[in-house]
Amino acid sequence: DRLPALLRAMPKAELHMHIEGSLEPELIFALAQRNGVKLAYPNVEALRAAYAFTNLQSFLDIYYAGASVLLTEQDFYDMGMAYLEKAVADNVVHTEIFFDPQTHTARGVHIKHVIMGLHRACLVAEKRWGITSQLILNFLRHLSEDDAWLTLEQALPYSDYFSGVGLDSSEVGNPPEKFASVFAHCKNLGLRRVAHAGEEGPPAYIWGALDLLHAERIDHGVQAVHDAALVQRLKDERIPLTVCPLSNQKLQVFPDLADHNMPQLLAQGLVATVNSDDPAYFGGYVNDNFVQLFAATGMGVREAFQLAANSFEASFVPQERKDAWL
Ligand code: ADE
Ligand code: ZN
Repeated sequence: DRLPALLRAMPKAELHMHIEGSLEPELIFALAQRNGVKLAYPNVEALRAAYAFTNLQSFLDIYYAGASVLLTEQDFYDMGMAYLEKAVADNVVHTEIFFDPQTHTARGVHIKHVIMGLHRACLVAEKRWGITSQLILNFLRHLSEDDAWLTLEQALPYSDYFSGVGLDSSEVGNPPEKFASVFAHCKNLGLRRVAHAGEEGPPAYIWGALDLLHAERIDHGVQAVHDAALVQRLKDERIPLTVCPLSNQKLQVFPDLADHNMPQLLAQGLVATVNSDDPAYFGGYVNDNFVQLFAATGMGVREAFQLAANSFEASFVPQERKDAWL
């Protein structure tokens, strides 16, 4: 069967990955040692053993604990380079990387160290391997809109180094309308907009992301299938869904990958894409997501090419570069 080799070799864009979710346990312990940070786990094995998630929140608690080892610009650079090297190995030619500044500024880390460390990694990776990147600042939705406003203010001196904003963290109970005014302002500033919606939350949160946050892409969005009018809108407006199969499996959105609705999303003509979300926590980088999803669902070469094309269409690169790809 040559399908796995094709999936691994095909050029692709990755549009939904949280850089803090690429921190492997080995790097967490190395940075903890370098920075003198005390962890709640004695070693790499004990930490990895804790990666048994039942839902989004059970993951987020461990993900924020892991990120506590990040203090210096060099830490953010090292984390970025480790991910970009893996992305290159997976034939990712363009990646749009989420980062969560509030996870770091709340611990006293200056946002400059977060953004400039990641930006430097993106520059070095492009020079070394040719991969292009954009950074997307995500607001944590479990915090207040005032906190998001403060974060935007802190980030704006570095706005040359990120292309857009997104919304992540605990979805249910933190609907998009909570962030309508800050997203409207980001739109006026010329920033691109994405939002997590319909991962665990209802279709109403996807409508809200589109109508109230002016989101240009929906991160996850797999719950859209429960609302026929919403599916029609996503299709008519070619609004991409950045889907993360192994994340959905590990967080019990689709406990069995064979039941994942990606085949249905593609059959309905949606611009769905495959992404890794938090690869260090969910058991694989983007190619592992492709290979395991295809093995479980029985999708074939047509769907493979569709997903690669969708990843380029859904990206925020200039149209001329998309035309050259597609
Ligand atoms: N932060 C990191 N991964 C996330 C996810 N899958 N959903 C919401 N917030 C996240
Ligand atoms: Zn995500």
